[in-house]
Formats: sequence, C-alpha cells, structure tokens
Amino acid sequence: MDLVTCTAPVNIAVIKYWGKRDEELILPINDSLSATLASEQMHAKTTVSISPNFTEDRIWLNGQEEAMANPRLVNCLREVKRRARESGQTPQTRLDWHIRICSANNFPTAAGLASSAAGYACLVYALCQLYGVKGDLSELARQGSGSACRSVLGGFVRWRMGSDAQGHDSLAHQVVGPEHWPDMRIIILVANDGQKKVPSSIGMKRSVGTSELLKFRAENTVPKRIEAMEKAVQDRDFATFAALAMKDSNEMHATCLDTTPPCVYMSSTSHQVSDLVHKINEHFGTPIVGYTFDAGPNACLFLLKEHVPLLVHLVRHYFPTSDTTFKGDPFRGRDFDVEISSGEGKFQSLESSMDMGTNPDALKYAIYTKVGLGPEVLTNTSDHLLDELGNPKM
Ligand code: DP6
Repeated sequence: MDLVTCTAPVNIAVIKYWGKRDEELILPINDSLSATLASEQMHAKTTVSISPNFTEDRIWLNGQEEAMANPRLVNCLREVKRRARESGQTPQTRLDWHIRICSANNFPTAAGLASSAAGYACLVYALCQLYGVKGDLSELARQGSGSACRSVLGGFVRWRMGSDAQGHDSLAHQVVGPEHWPDMRIIILVANDGQKKVPSSIGMKRSVGTSELLKFRAENTVPKRIEAMEKAVQDRDFATFAALAMKDSNEMHATCLDTTPPCVYMSSTSHQVSDLVHKINEHFGTPIVGYTFDAGPNACLFLLKEHVPLLVHLVRHYFPTSDTTFKGDPFRGRDFDVEISSGEGKFQSLESSMDMGTNPDALKYAIYTKVGLGPEVLTNTSDHLLDELGNPKM
C-alpha cells in the first residue's frame, strides 16, 4: 500500500474571480489575485492511498463517506493519472490500483467558509505526490474548483485567465512569497447568518448569462485594476492595496445584484462591518483596513500588524457577543496574544467619534491569520487520516 498525506491552505481573493468562459474546463473571464492564508489557522488535510488489495475507490470528507461520483473530483483524478501516464514515470499497475481518499478541514465547517479551494488544491497536490507527477499543478487544481488553482502556491498569487481554448495557459503564478509582506494580517469575521446562499458556481453562471455589468467588469475594470493591485503588493503599498480590494469586492457584489434573479451574499452584518471599516479609514484619513467578501456574508479584513489591537478593540466594542464559550476566539489565540494585548485600553476615544450602534451577537466566530505557504507533505505517521489498512482513523 502507498500512502501520502498533505495539507493545503485557504486563499482569499482581493481581485475576484467571478464568471467562467468554459464551465467544463473551469476557465475564467478575468484574471484574479489572492493571498494564501497561513495553514496553522486554516487548512484542508488529505490522505490518499492506493493498494492492489482495494476493491473499489472510496472517499471520506470531514468524517462522512461520500460517493465517488462528484464530476469535479473524478476529473481531477483522471487528469492527474493522465499526466502520470504521459510522464512515463509511473507504472501502469499502480495507476490501475483502486484509491482511498480521506479529507478534513481544521477549521469549523460551521463557520460557513468556502473550503473547496483548499480541498481541491490538497487533493491534487496529494495525488501528484502519490503518482510522482511534477510541474505546474494549478491547471489540475483549477479543474476541481477555479479558486483552488491559487491555493497550490503560497504568498500572493495571480491566476491568469489565459486565452487557450483548452486552458493550458490558464494558470496560477506566485506574485511574491509570504515573506515579502511580513506585517500583513488577515482577520475573518464570521457572521451569525444561517441563510442558505446560492453556491458560487451557480451564481457566477447566472451572472455570465444576465449581467451587463459583469461583462463591463471583466473587459474594462479588472484588467486595469489587477495591474495596479499587483504593483501595490510588490511595493507593499497598503493604502492602495486596501482601497483596490474594497472596490473590487463591491464591484463583484454589484454584479451579483445586477444578476437575474439577483444573488445576495452580503447581509446587514456585512454592511455594518463595511461601515465600520470606512469610518476607521475616514478617521485616519487613509485606508488602514481593507475588506473583501466572497459568496457569503463573512468579512475578510486585511490590515497591518500595528493596527490589529485597534481593530480588535473596535470589533469587540461594536459586535459584542454573549456567547461566553466563543470557541476559537482568535483574539485570545496563543500566537498573537502579545500583539493584541499590547493595545488594550488605548482606543476609547476613537469609539466616541464613530457614531455607530452596537450589534450584539451579529458575529459568531473570528479567525486571525497571516499570509502563508502553499501545500505541504506531512510525513509523521500520526498525521495520516487513513490507517495501515486504508481505513479512516476517526
Ligand atoms: C467569490 O472557485 O468556488 O470566492 O470554480 O465554480 O468552483 P468554482 O467557483 P469557486 O469561486 C470562488 C468565487 C469567489 C471569488 C474568488 O475566490 O476569486
């Protein structure tokens, strides 16, 4: 039996991917740019195993066995095997053995955070390790989920849409590594909102079919904005970075509202968080915090380390929670305690200038993290999610 275990990170786009020109190959209508988040706080972990003794392919996701029927999953497996076959490095017998896949996230699925990017990046990375496939992995991960192609690399990553009909040039490239902007921090505020949202793949298909604004965005706004964003990242120009991220998020959500029927992803809490960010930035006379929202109500805030205590203080003040357990409160997180506690008590005067009401229990969870590395292989036996017989350990 052969077995490989890997982790892969989540990524958050600051220039959004919204809309496909090819549904099957998952080819986008515009470039996008994201930050890969550190795996310590959030990652997908996947163990893949092949053996001549397995009689069928099986998969377990977050503790539940699922059918191996998902077309995107089947595509990824087929494409990795095709590459392995073409390389001539992998014996055909190994490619014929059945496979077992076990995958889990280290962050609560209840948080409602998009996990498909990390999940597919992890699956593809682990499969490539297993079958000895080398070279660019973003093209393979893209076929699981578009945003997954950006999770195969660390740091800031740009997915170039490409022009090839087969998508061979629709690949992710690293703009800079995670060490480039060491003071950048990310705080994800998970909104207390149970509303079922339209999945992003369905939402974007609907937008492509019905939104004129989306066409304008893809052809006119994003091509210019992404160059400016790449430069802001290269130059570590936070004010420009934050301003562009907010503009792009708002434009994506505007195209969602321009869609018929409209896709409404931001909630009143999302808008309150956005208000707070703009008020803070007004107070400072320059953006010191930037937000971005994916296909859901959770705010993803970018800010520099020096402003974390201030932001945490204001979030706690305006979004108090009565849930004393408040598990996973990142503001008490072990790694960042020092950074946060250093600023306590300094910001009372700021509150009075904000002119905002408080919103008790509007947030249910928060994650504090930074920019991190791409996927990694774990070699410790205790890290494997499948045992020596290929059965899930949990
Ligand atoms: C709003 O990558 O989940 O997060 O390619 O259909 O799997 P599929 O969509 P997905 O869409 C992500 C949309 C987004 C923006 C982004 O990550 O760029």
